[in-house]
Amino acid sequence: MSNLFEPLTLRGLTIPNRVWMAPMCQYSAAGEGPDTGAPNDWHFQHLAARAVGGSGLILTEASAVAPEGRISPYDLGIWNDRQAEAFRRSTGFLTSQGVVPGIQLAHAGRKAATDAPWSGGSPIDPDDTRAWPVVGPSALPFSGAHQTPDELTTDEIAAIVGQFADAARRALTAGFKVAEVHGAHGYLIHQFLSPYSNTRTDSYGGPLENRMRFALEVVDAVRAVWPEDLPLFFRSSATDWLDEGVAGWTGDDNVRLAKELQAHGVDLLDVSTGGNVPDATIPAAPGFQVPFAAAVREQTGLATAAVGLITDPHQAEEVVSTGRADAVLLGRQLLRDPYWPRHAAAALGATLPSAPQYARA
Ligand SMILES: Cc1cc2nc3c(=O)[nH]c(=O)nc-3n(C[C@H](O)[C@H](O)[C@H](O)COP(=O)(O)O)c2cc1C
Repeated sequence: MSNLFEPLTLRGLTIPNRVWMAPMCQYSAAGEGPDTGAPNDWHFQHLAARAVGGSGLILTEASAVAPEGRISPYDLGIWNDRQAEAFRRSTGFLTSQGVVPGIQLAHAGRKAATDAPWSGGSPIDPDDTRAWPVVGPSALPFSGAHQTPDELTTDEIAAIVGQFADAARRALTAGFKVAEVHGAHGYLIHQFLSPYSNTRTDSYGGPLENRMRFALEVVDAVRAVWPEDLPLFFRSSATDWLDEGVAGWTGDDNVRLAKELQAHGVDLLDVSTGGNVPDATIPAAPGFQVPFAAAVREQTGLATAAVGLITDPHQAEEVVSTGRADAVLLGRQLLRDPYWPRHAAAALGATLPSAPQYARA
């Protein structure tokens, strides 16, 4: 009996199984002109292929809530109605296949304005017309190669909170059923959470409760516009992977954040790690982030999704059936094999209905 292919209900939404696609930037949107940040044929096939492949929920790549919140000029965005309209083709198709469309809402903060990975992935020279000035909680660059961010004022922080809410409102009109706030991987929200990147002395810096303020304001603003019967996810990095004694974000902080998020209406924590410290040593190995998801679930009761080097059907099944997470998110394995959920179902003796057009196979 497989638990991986059992439905999961969060609020009023039933997700058909627990194999989900992780958000993955495609760096393939127009970087200028009227269609800047709008999904195109590439994004459609990227999402549609995994829907036909059997993923129960599919999260778009980090979609910027403001132009200056893009990681690269080629990221998707949801800061205007034209982008929202362009998402409808994908959300409509996913929905027609019984797959839940979700969007990851993001702001890159001090890690913005970098090039596509296949063009080197480095920060774009500030003199290049494709670059823009970056912002952060404090005037601390991510690395020596990155721009030094402008420290956000409290008015600017409030404006970004509003941009997250506006983006969520647009995401709803675009047909998304899940919104995920991107609080991980060293992007703006994580920059505020971690004392490694946040040295503010006002109400947004210092003790943990202050460093969590921006994240919780974003969650409150998004929750206020996101329907009561639809779930809200949050992706966190459970640790900065810094050595003991160096001030950074830790697994314990992540559990405390999870408790707060739960009280503020978040329904599931998508638990990743890292991304805020360029030279951190990350002990990547199969399922290495699962213990962080398990700790949150065990200590708070909040639903979790585990992600990171989950590639084998029995491994995925074990994560869910032992209650270490409510679902698994797969990234690179689904790039290699969009039909992974179908292969996994076969390996586990589970049933996963296919599109009727392909039933004969
Ligand atoms: C090409 C690529 C793009 C990614 N883009 C995002 C993103 O937009 N947002 C995000 O939270 N994580 C992003 N990630 C991280 C994945 O969501 C996932 O957490 C990571 O790849 C680990 O899972 P995996 O071992 O199954 O690939 C990206 C990963 C890859 C490989």
